[in-house]
Amino acid sequence: MSPNTNTHTCMLVLIFLHLYCLTLLASSKSESIECIPSEREALVTFKEHLIDPSNRLSSWNISNPNCCHWDYVVCSNNVTAHVLQLHLNTSRDPFHYEDKFNYLCYQKYMFSGEINDSVLELKHLNYLDLSGNDFGGMQVPTFLFSITSLTHLDLFDAGFEGKIPNQIGNLSNLLHLDLSHSIIGTIPHQIGNLTNLIHLGLQSDFGEQLLFHVGNVHWLSGLTSLEYLDSSGANLSKSLDWLQTMQALPSLR
Ligand SMILES: *[C@@H]1O[C@H](CO)[C@@H](O)[C@H](O)[C@H]1NC(C)=O
Ligand SMILES: *[C@@H]1O[C@H](CO)[C@@H](O)[C@H](O)[C@H]1NC(C)=O
Ligand SMILES: *[C@@H]1O[C@H](CO)[C@@H](O)[C@H](O)[C@H]1NC(C)=O
Ligand SMILES: *[C@@H]1O[C@H](CO)[C@@H](O)[C@H](O)[C@H]1NC(C)=O
Ligand SMILES: *[C@@H]1O[C@H](CO)[C@@H](O)[C@H](O)[C@H]1NC(C)=O
Ligand SMILES: *[C@@H]1O[C@H](CO)[C@@H](O)[C@H](O)[C@H]1NC(C)=O
Ligand SMILES: *[C@@H]1O[C@H](CO)[C@@H](O)[C@H](O)[C@H]1NC(C)=O
Repeated sequence: MSPNTNTHTCMLVLIFLHLYCLTLLASSKSESIECIPSEREALVTFKEHLIDPSNRLSSWNISNPNCCHWDYVVCSNNVTAHVLQLHLNTSRDPFHYEDKFNYLCYQKYMFSGEINDSVLELKHLNYLDLSGNDFGGMQVPTFLFSITSLTHLDLFDAGFEGKIPNQIGNLSNLLHLDLSHSIIGTIPHQIGNLTNLIHLGLQSDFGEQLLFHVGNVHWLSGLTSLEYLDSSGANLSKSLDWLQTMQALPSLR
């Protein structure tokens, strides 16, 4: 392919993706639902700190005041329409075609920049997906671990590179937690407080370097609802009873 065709294909994929995502989300939006002004302000601030080269968040603007109609935003389906979900993930899948992965195209579609703590204004947020983005190796913002309303937190391959803070134990409503490729250091035992967890993603395959330690795994035995665990790439050298603990989990498949 010539560079021109490549760019052209890239544009088409981006346009198609955009329309596809809009159709998906539009189906869940009803006209009568109104956005709460303080939550709209929070989203505007959040957007200001993100870098969005493909302008995926163009609908996040004040001339379109009902933030429940903004792309990637899902509100509760009743009169007090709180923002419940933010789907700010970037999948790699659409950028694989003709057996090739078009990284340049993918890179243009990713979010980067900063995560602003205005997200804390979204008092009913239960779903936050930032997976597949490029936050440039910065520490996972600690304030994300104080959003206790979350049931779903996905930071899979989001370009973070930090330790998990002990506060993670406060997110006791979590059902789905994915920190794959985003963490270093030792996993804090407070993660054992997340007794409702069904999915725990802790993959790590940064080349040869195994970036996190599981340490003492007694916390694992508290996760009795767990059905999915991926810890490939973890350094288990200090975790002699890992296998035994895992085998004792009732729901693990
Ligand atoms: C604001 O959002 C509306 C609805 O998505 C869009 O039609 C309009 O172009 C946007 N305006 C700007 C300045 O991005
Ligand atoms: C409104 O939505 C919230 C969150 O989804 C829910 O907890 C609440 O019960 C709903 N209220 C009504 C009146 O439907
Ligand atoms: C975000 O993830 C959902 C699945 O969880 C997927 O259907 C969607 O296509 C992804 N969005 C983007 C823009 O990659
Ligand atoms: C969030 O945004 C506000 C306003 O732009 C700024 O003052 C504040 O420092 C930001 N906070 C973080 C944690 O980046
Ligand atoms: C969150 O956890 C930290 C330490 O694990 C604790 O000191 C703090 O009080 C907790 N915060 C809330 C709001 O529960
Ligand atoms: C673990 O959960 C208990 C009870 O729910 C709570 O009191 C405690 O603060 C939590 N610990 C951490 C570190 O979050
Ligand atoms: C795992 O961690 C131990 C120290 O706890 C270290 O000696 C060892 O080299 C690590 N293994 C790998 C493959 O990095």
